[in-house]
Amino acid sequence: MVTAAPLGGRGAPHRPVLLEETLEFLAPERGGLFVDCTVGLGGHSEAILKSSGDTRVIGMDLDPEALEYARERLAPFRERFRAVQANFRAIAAVLQEANEREPSGILVDLGVSSLQFDSPERGFSFRFDAPLDMRMNPAAGATAADLLQQLSESEIARIIFEYGEERHSRRIARRIVERRDQETPVTTTTELAELVRAAAGGHKRNQIHPATRTFQALRIAVNHELEGLGEFVETAVDLLMPDGRFVGISFHSLEDRILKRELRRLSGHCECPPRLPVCSCGAREVVEVLTRRPLVPGSREIDENPRARSAKLRAARKL
Ligand SMILES: C[S@@+](CC[C@H](N)C(=O)[O-])C[C@H]1O[C@@H](n2cnc3c(N)ncnc32)[C@H](O)[C@@H]1O
Repeated sequence: MVTAAPLGGRGAPHRPVLLEETLEFLAPERGGLFVDCTVGLGGHSEAILKSSGDTRVIGMDLDPEALEYARERLAPFRERFRAVQANFRAIAAVLQEANEREPSGILVDLGVSSLQFDSPERGFSFRFDAPLDMRMNPAAGATAADLLQQLSESEIARIIFEYGEERHSRRIARRIVERRDQETPVTTTTELAELVRAAAGGHKRNQIHPATRTFQALRIAVNHELEGLGEFVETAVDLLMPDGRFVGISFHSLEDRILKRELRRLSGHCECPPRLPVCSCGAREVVEVLTRRPLVPGSREIDENPRARSAKLRAARKL
């Protein structure tokens, strides 16, 4: 049982990122159906539900523990909130199953929740010694330890380089595979953090821990976080009612690049390489982009919630 109390004792208390900005773009006071595709601890959903007695929210998440927390937290809203365990890429099927159509707003707040990051046994953080798991849905798919056992050295290096932007990716991958072949495979958070520190060198004060980027990269690979994100944006936008709003919050440059490109393409801008004679990106004008540049948290929000520091918000309105 997960209790919907503040996460006292489990790290920083949860605060929804860029909450005011999200509400400004979603405009939930108009009422109607909102889909929170990554309900997490229910912070954004709670604010949407509070904004008007006429809003309804379907909250989706891969993580059963997050859904249990959100269900308990949002129980006061009774039948106005419904929680569904599903990948947000299945949003169309979830709406069909719920006999709902044309939401007024769709929100996706990507990445991990505080609940996941601060739960030692989930293996997302090297702050705790735990099995190297990192699955958002602990009942499905390969763990981070499985990936480090199964993938080739070059695949491990690619993941760490691409998703972690880690310049020592090859050295780290080589050490992981040497250890796997000559000693015992890496199976815990502490073992991986120590291995990365040894391979990538120590860190100076005020610098992030050397294992931060490798952990982020593995998490993205374990949960296939970038796969199908562009297609999801297009599906979400197509589902919206006219004047409906889409808000996407990302924490990684590759995610932001996908959100930016898709929203531009769906606002009619051709995203093909410059010298291509015919447009093949499928650009069409179905939204108005409401954020010429991504919105980022102010210094006050970052002071209060340091995890918000890399957040970027993009929003669009369905035409
Ligand atoms: C940053 S948290 C969301 C926090 C939430 N906005 C709040 O206010 O509490 C991201 C959540 O998205 C979920 N998630 C990540 N990828 C997902 C996917 N493809 N489908 C569904 N949920 C996903 C994670 O399990 C996590 O709970």
